[in-house]
Parts: sequence; structure tokens; C-alpha cells
Amino acid sequence: MSPGGLSNLLCGVDIEKNENVLVGIENFDDAGVYKISDELALVTTVDFFTPIVDDPYTFGQIAAANALSDVYAMGGKPITALNLLSFPEGVLDKKVAKEIIRGGLERIHAAGAVLMGGHTVKDPELKYGLCVTGTVHPDQVMTNSGAKPGDVLVLTKPLGTGIISTALKRGAADEAALGESTAFMIRLNASAGEAAVKVGVRGCTDVTGFSFLGHLYEVLMASKLGARIQVKEVPLLYKAKEYAEKGFKPGGLNANKEFYSPNVEIKTGESKDLIDILYDPQTSGGLLICIPPAKLEKFMSILESKGENAWVVGEIVSDKPGRITLL
Ligand code: CO
Ligand code: CO
Ligand code: CO
Repeated sequence: MSPGGLSNLLCGVDIEKNENVLVGIENFDDAGVYKISDELALVTTVDFFTPIVDDPYTFGQIAAANALSDVYAMGGKPITALNLLSFPEGVLDKKVAKEIIRGGLERIHAAGAVLMGGHTVKDPELKYGLCVTGTVHPDQVMTNSGAKPGDVLVLTKPLGTGIISTALKRGAADEAALGESTAFMIRLNASAGEAAVKVGVRGCTDVTGFSFLGHLYEVLMASKLGARIQVKEVPLLYKAKEYAEKGFKPGGLNANKEFYSPNVEIKTGESKDLIDILYDPQTSGGLLICIPPAKLEKFMSILESKGENAWVVGEIVSDKPGRITLL
């Protein structure tokens, strides 16, 4: 899905208002949030796509981690999942479907959730993903509209999965680069999401198809603020820069760039190829978290205690809504 394309299908469609809907479709949030009681709300989301790696089990893991991520991005904890599988029956061996589902189940279990069933359709193009339901306390929901001026922007996974996948498709990806990219795509955003909720973060999204700058823009528009990004501090996957320089850029990167670049002011001397990585569509990317400065140290130490990293990449500022300055 490219920005400005199918993402806007619901525009102009009359969606009913409901007082229990705490987060609906208005701000392009990662998931919907529905209040059950003063202590409990449901987080619901769905995500599925075509394979981006060759191994079916690994693809299942990545697709599941990606779908589960939207619950974490809202501050929720996944509890149940449903499989969605489009499968070219008669073309691919059923063993492939089994391996994909096994991979997905492994991540569902790693998230502490349970598989409740699913749905399979015959389709010439293989696709897999999950519908996930999670829970969240209504007062702890993180949204695109929750950023505040002065918040520190923290990213929890390096960028470049789209570029690495493109290099793979062109037969040019090196093993180490592919290994690192795959490991990050499989990693759940569980620790990052939990740490953010624990310190009281309100502004958060995950970085997926619309890229780092695209998802940041959604946060800024919803929060009516701007951001300043220290491009040198943005973490990149091994070889992402080299592959970008070699031209291994997915179609989605150009679409993202075309759509979001009018809001981006470039004041850095970094190369065009490096800036392009900020438009790279991510699969199962990290969380982009808006952390009040006083809470940053605690967040970092919680994440570190789980053996994970996070990178401070910029700050939220009062500015024309949506404006991103690259420094
Ligand atoms: Co998302
Ligand atoms: Co999603
Ligand atoms: Co969100």
C-alpha cells in the first residue's frame, strides 16, 4: 500500500461514531482501541503481505511479528491472534503453508498470546499475516496524537529492511546483511512497548510501510507539531547505505519520498542515498517513541535490562504541523 493511494479508501466513507472507540481511524493510528470498562480496552489490528524472505518459517515469523507490533505500538499486550493465509493451492506444496503457520505460531507464543483459528483462501499470490487482539488500560494508550513539544524521539530498530529485501530479490544481498535484517524483523516490539508504557509515554507508532519519515509525519500531523531529526544518529542496518548507493531501492521508497518529501526540510550535508533510507518502507520495523526528557533515562535502562537497544534520533518541536527538519 502506498501513501495517498489505497490508504485513503475510507476517506469520505461515513464511519459511525461510538463513545467506546478510544482510537479510531482519524489519525492513521496502528490499531483501533475499544473501551470495555474503565480498566480495560481492546486493541485490534490486522496486517498481512507477500513473502519478503525465501524461507517459509522465517516469513511466518516476520509477518506475525509485524502484525503483533501494532498492538505494542498502542501500549497494548497481545492476547489472541487469527491467521490470514492466501495460498496458491496446487502451485505450492502444502508443506510451505504449514511452515509459514508454524513460524507465525512461534511468534504468537513468544508474545504470550494464543492462536484462535484463522481463514485461508485460494489465491495465486501467497500472503500471510495475523489479525491480533490485545488489551490495554484505557489511561495507558499510546497514539499518534500523544506527542508533546520537547519529547525526545527514540527509535528501537535500525532502518533499511526494504533496501536489504530489494538487494535479496536482485540476488545481491550478502549473508551477514540479510541475517541482521531478518533478526530485527523477527524481533517483537514487546520490550520497547512495555518499557514505554511503564515510564508513561503517550506518543508512539511503529515504523512500517510508510517509512521512518512517513510514520513520523503521521505522528506530527496528529499531534500538530514538528520534529528535528539528527540524521547522523539514525541507526541503519548493516549494508543498508551501501545497497542504497548501489540503487537497490524498493518501489515503495520512491512513493514514500514523493508523498512525504514536501514536508521535509533538508539542512544536513548527508548524501541523497542516505536520506533515501529514511523513506525506505520497513517490514516489522521498530517503535518510534516520543519520550518526555525526564523519562528517557528510565526507559533506556529498562530496555537495556532486556538486552535491547534504542537510539535517540531527534526531538519533537513546536512548528508548522508535520514539518520535519533533517539536521
Ligand atoms: Co503500525
Ligand atoms: Co499495521
Ligand atoms: Co499508534
